[in-house]
Amino acid sequence: MILCANFKANKTRQETRAYMAVVESFVSANDITDTVIVFPPFTALEHDPRNVLIGVQNGYPVINGAYTGEIALEQLEEFGIKTILIGHSERRHILGESQEEIAAKFRFFAEQGFVIVYCVGEPLEVREEGNEALMTYIEKQFEGIDLSYGDLILAYEPVWAIGTGLTPSNEDIVWVHNALRAKTHAPLLYGGSVKVENAGEIMALDNVDGILVGSASLSANDFCEMIAQAAELNTEIGE
Ligand code: 13P
Repeated sequence: MILCANFKANKTRQETRAYMAVVESFVSANDITDTVIVFPPFTALEHDPRNVLIGVQNGYPVINGAYTGEIALEQLEEFGIKTILIGHSERRHILGESQEEIAAKFRFFAEQGFVIVYCVGEPLEVREEGNEALMTYIEKQFEGIDLSYGDLILAYEPVWAIGTGLTPSNEDIVWVHNALRAKTHAPLLYGGSVKVENAGEIMALDNVDGILVGSASLSANDFCEMIAQAAELNTEIGE
């Protein structure tokens, strides 16, 4: 399983240090073999090697240059960052990133060999039109994206499920993940209101290879509990 914690614009550097200490010791003490990735804010990046991968929530697709307010490759490399989230719904819908800009980021960071957690997902009005409309919408989020990229992780995050406490039914998650599986061999994450109470059940679904967690990941203990649930599933399926 792959378990990702996306802090968004939460936690200070100090809070992130304390959080990482809890998660890192949990991972070592329990011999966790699942992939755990934390996406803190830029201000909390550290140089230290870790047993938990650290990724960034964004990056500007240049080596360096005159791009006021942006963080580019050179600054990420200083922290040994090789993992990035691209296409998150908050960047698409709140920060106004176009598919063209997103595809440019994807191309650049793929050329640099980054692990890319690429996010797709539909708004509620599209979901209400049914599965066919939903996949047509998601297809547009694949424009300019190389679905055969070897270090791709694909995250399905319905916009209406993010931060709302709502989730699709298990059948709906499986339907979308099966449709995504037909397009790519990349691991498939589900995200949107995942918490301790539903994480194990969601991770056990067909073609769900992990979870991308926002608000519920802000508690280190809750996130560790989800990691424990993933480890439990591995035991059940004899991995
Ligand atoms: P929530 O878990 O808060 O719904 O957020 C999901 C998300 O956007 C993770 O990237």
